[in-house]
Amino acid sequence: MNDKQLVAQHAANLVEDGMVVGLGTGSTANYFIEALAHRYTSEGLKVTTVSSSYISAIKAREVGLPLLAMEQISKLDIYVDGADEVTPSLALLKGRGSDLVREKLLARASAEFIVLVDQSKLVSRIGEKYAIPIEVMPFAWQLVQASLQAQGAIGELRPNASKDGLAMTSHGSLVLEMTFDAKLSSSELNIILNNTPGIVEHGIFEGLAGTVLIAHEGKIETRLA
Ligand code: A5P
Repeated sequence: MNDKQLVAQHAANLVEDGMVVGLGTGSTANYFIEALAHRYTSEGLKVTTVSSSYISAIKAREVGLPLLAMEQISKLDIYVDGADEVTPSLALLKGRGSDLVREKLLARASAEFIVLVDQSKLVSRIGEKYAIPIEVMPFAWQLVQASLQAQGAIGELRPNASKDGLAMTSHGSLVLEMTFDAKLSSSELNIILNNTPGIVEHGIFEGLAGTVLIAHEGKIETRLA
């Protein structure tokens, strides 16, 4: 069992009968979906799930988990997802996938947001390893880019996987990938991005993680917000 599988299994064991569980997106979230499905089929664990992306919904259906549409829920018990960066104050960078809006909605609506990472995701500041993904209305991308450039950021639209066009989110937004002055804190960046018109959502998850489970060489460290 690798570190991602280990931490996913640990999180699946935290799920209790009757819970509504949010399913994240990415390789670690996939391991969680598999581990949860195993408990559902082998133990008869009673769960309902809601997915943060089409790709995770497909995965959940494949492994037989009961799945609700996001429109059918008003709250959930836990949301389990990976992250791209985690700071010492448990601010997260997310969004290498293509559905930031759903991810942040689930993180905010859940009673407990559990983040699963290995040690490679630990950083001293948001933006240390990756540019910040920023979903923009397609007609607004240039004005948003100019507004952020005026505040010292640099960056371009995210290309698609084959690099012959632009990446598009599941509901048709474009994604700017912007790098900011390293002196700006995650809360300052969060405020700047929340206050910029034309931005649909962005990858800084500030004050949302409740528990971060960090796997390293077969052991799990738990950090609580
Ligand atoms: C999805 O948009 C991201 O926020 C993922 O949670 C992130 O990329 C983690 O992926 P891995 O679990 O594959 O590292």
